[in-house]
Amino acid sequence: MATMNGVNLFHDNMGEVAQLHGIGVQRFGDTWYAYGEVKFNGNLFQGVACYSTNDFVDWTNEGIVLPVEGDDSIVGPKRIIERPKVLHCPATGKYVMYLHVDGENNYSYAHIGVAVGDSPTGGFTFLNTIQHRGYESRDIGVFQDEDGTGYILSEDRPHGTHIYRLSDDYLSIVEDVVCLKGTNYWAGYESPIVVKRDGTYYWFGSQLTGWDCNDNMFATAPDLHGPWSEWTPFTPEGSKTYESQCDIIVPLPNETAGEDQWHASRFLYIGDRWNPKDLGNSELVTLPIEIEGGNAKLAWHDSWDNGL
Ligand code: DGJ
Repeated sequence: MATMNGVNLFHDNMGEVAQLHGIGVQRFGDTWYAYGEVKFNGNLFQGVACYSTNDFVDWTNEGIVLPVEGDDSIVGPKRIIERPKVLHCPATGKYVMYLHVDGENNYSYAHIGVAVGDSPTGGFTFLNTIQHRGYESRDIGVFQDEDGTGYILSEDRPHGTHIYRLSDDYLSIVEDVVCLKGTNYWAGYESPIVVKRDGTYYWFGSQLTGWDCNDNMFATAPDLHGPWSEWTPFTPEGSKTYESQCDIIVPLPNETAGEDQWHASRFLYIGDRWNPKDLGNSELVTLPIEIEGGNAKLAWHDSWDNGL
């Protein structure tokens, strides 16, 4: 049984603040692997860090799995590169990392970056950047369905937020499944997350307020193509998602569904509480989120037992 706080500054096994900003999490085998933006020195690219954990409390530093390359590289030190997410491709056996790759200290490039590795801890080799049909892509997320199909979620400022279906090798986009704006909102939601429980898809996202927090939203659908419900908050209105920006929702194992992530009944919410003046020391909000029967609800706990 692992006790977590509602808000944490996690340290790794080396005693350093774990660089889990813009975190992506997947379970590969018996272990969860988390990928984060290194933000010790501000917002420009300092590599993608990987940590492993069995309980989301103790974090083993697995090193920098996507390093910074030369000044002129698309993964060079002047770039903004955010939200690393990794999927394991069933067809090729490769681990594929997706990133929000942007410009030199600006957000004008707006592409999806793709890197591949042979294990969860890489190293990952950067391949290329993608803009499906020229659509901008900033914040991203990933989802793998129970049939093994992979999806990228991608915020495209002019059009909304897309769910893109990936090719069998997970290296390109083959379908723009859906593109949604928020309910009574000028854009799609950023920091997108999709989880599935018992045949229903739950899509989460944050309004666009820079590093500031807002009331994050969710919608549901019986199929990724839709129809999608209206978007509604999943925390009390005005709480600004307990001062966090949703980042990832992790299905946790339980007694009946075991490791089956698509029929989980317990979920861990992880959100960034950004500190723009000291990004590397930004805290994470970690809370149990109830997802059931078309509803999602996040309640505050100073501390709680995550059952792991
Ligand atoms: C919100 C995004 O979700 C973050 O990843 C980051 O790009 C900030 N905006 C920067 O203002």
